[in-house]
Amino acid sequence: MSKTIDELTARFTEFMGHAPEGVWSAPGRVNLIGEHTDYNEGFVLPFAIDRRTRAAVGLRTDGVIRVTSTFDHTAVEFPLAGLEAARTAGEIVGWSAYPLGVAWALGQHGADLSSVTGVDILIDSTVPVGAGLSSSAAIESSVALALNDLWNLDFTREKLAKVGQLAENEVVGAPTGIMDQSASLLGAADAAVFLDCRSLEAQVVPLGLAKAGLSILVMDTRVSHSHATGGYSERRAACEAGAAAMGTSSLRDVSVGDLDRARELLDDVTFRRVRHVVTENQRVLDTVRVLGAEGPLAIGALLDASHVSMRDDFEISIPELDLAVETARDNGAIGARMTGGGFGGAAIALVPHALVPAVEAAVVAAFAAAGYGEPVTFTVTPSQGAQRMGDSAVG
Ligand code: GLA
Repeated sequence: MSKTIDELTARFTEFMGHAPEGVWSAPGRVNLIGEHTDYNEGFVLPFAIDRRTRAAVGLRTDGVIRVTSTFDHTAVEFPLAGLEAARTAGEIVGWSAYPLGVAWALGQHGADLSSVTGVDILIDSTVPVGAGLSSSAAIESSVALALNDLWNLDFTREKLAKVGQLAENEVVGAPTGIMDQSASLLGAADAAVFLDCRSLEAQVVPLGLAKAGLSILVMDTRVSHSHATGGYSERRAACEAGAAAMGTSSLRDVSVGDLDRARELLDDVTFRRVRHVVTENQRVLDTVRVLGAEGPLAIGALLDASHVSMRDDFEISIPELDLAVETARDNGAIGARMTGGGFGGAAIALVPHALVPAVEAAVVAAFAAAGYGEPVTFTVTPSQGAQRMGDSAVG
């Protein structure tokens, strides 16, 4: 359950012994399309969701950062000026690596951690953990925005997204791209963020879901995954090897027309990894075009093709995700795909409002019949990105 500002403020005051300066919130995200393209300098089209992390933040006078949360009541603290030493010594572990990593990364981007004021941070979140909805980026973005305000850093949101990514890469240890933090910081109501991950130019693309009578249904398989280990970094390495063999630094420079040459140059597995990224970039561009010209009812086939590419070429789907996608489509979804890094987590389906209960029931029944653990299904609404609470009705 999410806490109201008053509840969170009261909890902060009780725990920290003083009142917070304010509460900042940032959403998780769903990626509509464009998977494993961000670290290949390609295109992505995620949106911020109505599940958010809230960070109550207060000032201290001793240069220490202390973090705690409503889900893990232990407090962790370090002198801000000692974060780099703690990071190198491997002392920043567990979920506190997200907020502490952000403070460290702000330092790497120019904040003077030996002169800024200390902070106390209490985190509360309604973004499900391990579902592929970027609960981590939501923490990073809420804390980044709060410290940017309180330390008067004046960093742009694009720069704060880089700060979150650096925290994730160098403190959490997951070699992820820039998509999740960008969606969390740049999202807008009823819209997706079309991001060019090479130039980092972002454009808000209206989705018009309500007008078209469509819902986005999340089907969380509850199969957990981690991007700090295994498959994610292997896929990234395969993309880098494929780009190098094609004589370029990034797969962004490879187009659908180059795929015949890629097939000759690359081994079968690397070729299929490359083909996923190259065709997925094109599908993102096509989705943006189709959304503008025809609206969301016309993008189903692109979502479906994206899933097939992830299942067969990139090989990051799992049987539970495939079953969720197929069942949703068989029961009236106009398109469906796994979302996020893969190897677990959630799939999404674009479903006419009236069919949502039937699709949910069918997915739950299909999982039971297959002997899989019970999935969790819920709809999400494209929502506003990170903000200081009290700035508007969104919280
Ligand atoms: C994870 C990463 C993102 C992106 C996706 C795959 O969510 O955090 O940077 O690479 O996987 O599209």
